Amino acid sequence: MLQVARANGIDTLDTAIAYGESETCLGEVGTQGFKVVTKLPALPDDLPDVGAWVQQQVSASLARLRVQSVYGLLLHRSEQLQGPNGALLYQALRALKDLGQVQKLGVSIYSPTELAALTPRYRFDLVQAPFNLIDQRLYRTGWMQRLKDDGVEIHTRSVFLQGLMLMAQADIPSKFSPWNGLWHMWHRWLADHDGSALQGCLALPLSRPEIDRVVVGADSAAQLLQIVGAANTRPKADLPDLQCEDENLINPALWATL
Ligand SMILES: NC(=O)c1ccc[n+]([C@@H]2O[C@H](COP(=O)([O-])OP(=O)(O)OC[C@H]3O[C@@H](n4cnc5c(N)ncnc54)[C@H](OP(=O)(O)O)[C@@H]3O)[C@@H](O)[C@H]2O)c1
Repeated sequence: MLQVARANGIDTLDTAIAYGESETCLGEVGTQGFKVVTKLPALPDDLPDVGAWVQQQVSASLARLRVQSVYGLLLHRSEQLQGPNGALLYQALRALKDLGQVQKLGVSIYSPTELAALTPRYRFDLVQAPFNLIDQRLYRTGWMQRLKDDGVEIHTRSVFLQGLMLMAQADIPSKFSPWNGLWHMWHRWLADHDGSALQGCLALPLSRPEIDRVVVGADSAAQLLQIVGAANTRPKADLPDLQCEDENLINPALWATL
């Protein structure tokens, strides 16, 4: 997959300490030539020394990745900056930047409301947020433009909503039936315009100049090649309006409760 990525101009890798063996795997394969963005998990409760814990986590991450520094370090749980250890946590992150272990600091968010709570107190270099045909909150709330105006690098994820938007209509799990009207509209559009779902999904974030990177998830080199192919072509018709703000649909963390 990294060979496919390299050969097709993909220059950034998104991982996280919490993503199982992914950092170790990337370290073994080698990430030369890529910008690596990783994420710091939630701080444990009752930490005696926040700074030492952050430094230890990041040192271990760099060792697994077999690199001296990473391009980006994001907080996987940004709300912790609002908690009692918030100021210490931010200070510890800044220290990593001063040491040259991290180039850009930021947060991975689940909703733009997190930014409203954080930006009065903290400044970030990089924000990763969900953005897709169904969840367009980042744009609609004005945060996309605001971040861009403030010089913050924007990475968007969930372009395929964890693959849900790529499934044949008949394969969509029944727990998503409350949104049948939306699935019908999407699959009608795909049928009417002879387009691929990959192409339709990618066209939206790729059309927004404010977005610096569109994070894609793929399970194989073949899938990644399909994504690259779809990203290089544009749908023949205007995209359908599938916007929905129902958290139960747009936040995959809530799907287990459906
Ligand atoms: N042709 C095809 O059929 C085709 C082609 C391409 C992709 N796909 C499918 O689409 C999926 C990706 O969709 P997407 O890009 O829209 O994903 P996404 O919604 O951004 O979902 C990825 C989320 O999964 C979580 N996650 C847990 N473990 C992870 C790990 N080891 N690495 C990365 N993320 C991890 C992350 O949650 P946190 O945010 O909490 O970190 C991340 O946000 C692929 O997995 C594949 O199944 C299918």
